[in-house]
Amino acid sequence: MDHLKQLEALERQAELGGGEDRLKRQRDAGKLSARERIELLFDPGTFEETDKLVTHRCRDFGMDEQLIPGDGVIAGHGRVDGRPVYAFAQDFTVFGGSLSETNAEKIVKVMELAMKMGAPMVGLNDSGGARIQEGVLSLGGYADIFLLNTLASGVIPQISAIMGPCAGGAVYSPAITDFNIMVEGSSYMFVTGPDVIKTVTHEDVTKEDLGGAMAHNATSGVAHFMADDDRGCIRAIRDLLGYLPSNNLDEPPARETSDPLDREDVALDALIPDQPNQPYDMHDLIRTVVDDGAFLEVHQHYALNIIVGFAHLGGKSVGIVANQPSVLAGCLDIDASVKGARFVRFCDAFNIPLIVFEDVPGFLPGVRQEHGGIIRHGAKLLYAFAEATVPKITLITRKAYGGAYCVMASKHLRTDFNYAYPQAEIAVMGSEGAVNVLYRREIEQAPDPAAFRAEKTAEFREKFANPFVAASRGFIDEVIRPRETRTKLIAALASTANKREKNPPKKHGNIPL
Ligand code: HXC
Repeated sequence: MDHLKQLEALERQAELGGGEDRLKRQRDAGKLSARERIELLFDPGTFEETDKLVTHRCRDFGMDEQLIPGDGVIAGHGRVDGRPVYAFAQDFTVFGGSLSETNAEKIVKVMELAMKMGAPMVGLNDSGGARIQEGVLSLGGYADIFLLNTLASGVIPQISAIMGPCAGGAVYSPAITDFNIMVEGSSYMFVTGPDVIKTVTHEDVTKEDLGGAMAHNATSGVAHFMADDDRGCIRAIRDLLGYLPSNNLDEPPARETSDPLDREDVALDALIPDQPNQPYDMHDLIRTVVDDGAFLEVHQHYALNIIVGFAHLGGKSVGIVANQPSVLAGCLDIDASVKGARFVRFCDAFNIPLIVFEDVPGFLPGVRQEHGGIIRHGAKLLYAFAEATVPKITLITRKAYGGAYCVMASKHLRTDFNYAYPQAEIAVMGSEGAVNVLYRREIEQAPDPAAFRAEKTAEFREKFANPFVAASRGFIDEVIRPRETRTKLIAALASTANKREKNPPKKHGNIPL
């Protein structure tokens, strides 16, 4: 056989993976093949494969008779919207996509290249974990990947798609990466599956309930996005990349917009209800203000009392962090603090300016929150905003009470521009709560306690339930009309374009974990 024919035969074998039967099983499960996923991820015709002919080195358990070129993972590089991106895709038809020594070497090679070239890294995971036949060699391979995930963190964006059952080591690499996207109905993540759980704790749980897409999007918060199918998952990765810079030294890509920079929206003047306890949907404000109403929400199903996600303002990519008054009145709890902190740190690492929409009555009271460590977890969000040196712009739409006022990118945390609506209420706590604390004895002794309380509450509201005291101190730079929100934010963003701010030199800080 001449060498050209030999090459063609090897390539065909690599492309067939685990064979027609297993490929059919993959398709019957509603999944695309690893190769189809890769083709969809990259701009047509731009994918270049590395190590297509690598085989495993295991000689035990009959493995020497099962040598498949590529060894169950496709690795390489290509372009997404014209920009270089590196990726790997595990092929479940080859030993269940399990990770071998050589398989790990291939992944490590593209990760090292991605770091050297300053390009995002995408992992399409579909794997039964460490390859059992290889023992410690596969465990070592995982550890090599985890190390690189850690070193690459904050240097290049790392995105993991979970596109099949991912068990054991297969979940820890995604856990370190910046974003996890799961496919509904066909992807699972767990450290130990339902059978082991049944044996150890006697709990009965299905794969779906334990580690399905919704379980990790809504309950554990391990996943950031959910897609209906493989195609939707790949689309979501491409969309997400459109908001991100290629690396920590790059600016995020600008996006042309026909949305006028000076567009005012009169409807915003009526968005904030007159009654301070009446909820409204913060999404309405976000979508009205950003370019073309396009908002890519992260963690859409998790900790709904805070909203985080990406948008463009005047063509510039921004990260939005917003309290959500229609869920738990917008209170910060443990999950919301962790969700917000991780997002803020991602944006700060990758030069994405932060826009904060604030309407928060404080931290959520309760024994579960206190014993769950709201002090430690709430401190994460505080730390993240304080540490961030990217442009920071805050708008208080209504409530900014107590510690939450400080936390949500207040002026005191080096925020560049702080705005408030005229309806804003900036106080140590709500008027009712304040009166109950300050006048407890007087209320008890008053001839008409309700009338006394109402009178004092009105007095308190008059004094503190407004943004003017904060504005008189310069903690608020400007009290703005809601209709001009977009214009003001775009102008502020433009003024931060050359921002230079550095934290003191250190090895790294010690964020409360
Ligand atoms: C080698 C594996 C494998 C593995 C699956 N296969 N997992 N081969 N090593 N880890 C093979 C199967 O033998 C089978 O081969 C093919 O892949 C498909 O597997 P099925 O079981 O038929 O598929 P399915 O029913 O869809 O179940 C998928 C699964 C299950 C849930 C992933 O295979 C499973 O539980 N696998 C083991 C998971 C696990 O415990 N892994 C080790 C974790 S420890 P054939 O030839 O029949 O097609 C770990 C350590 C790292 O990862 C720790 C770091 C922190």
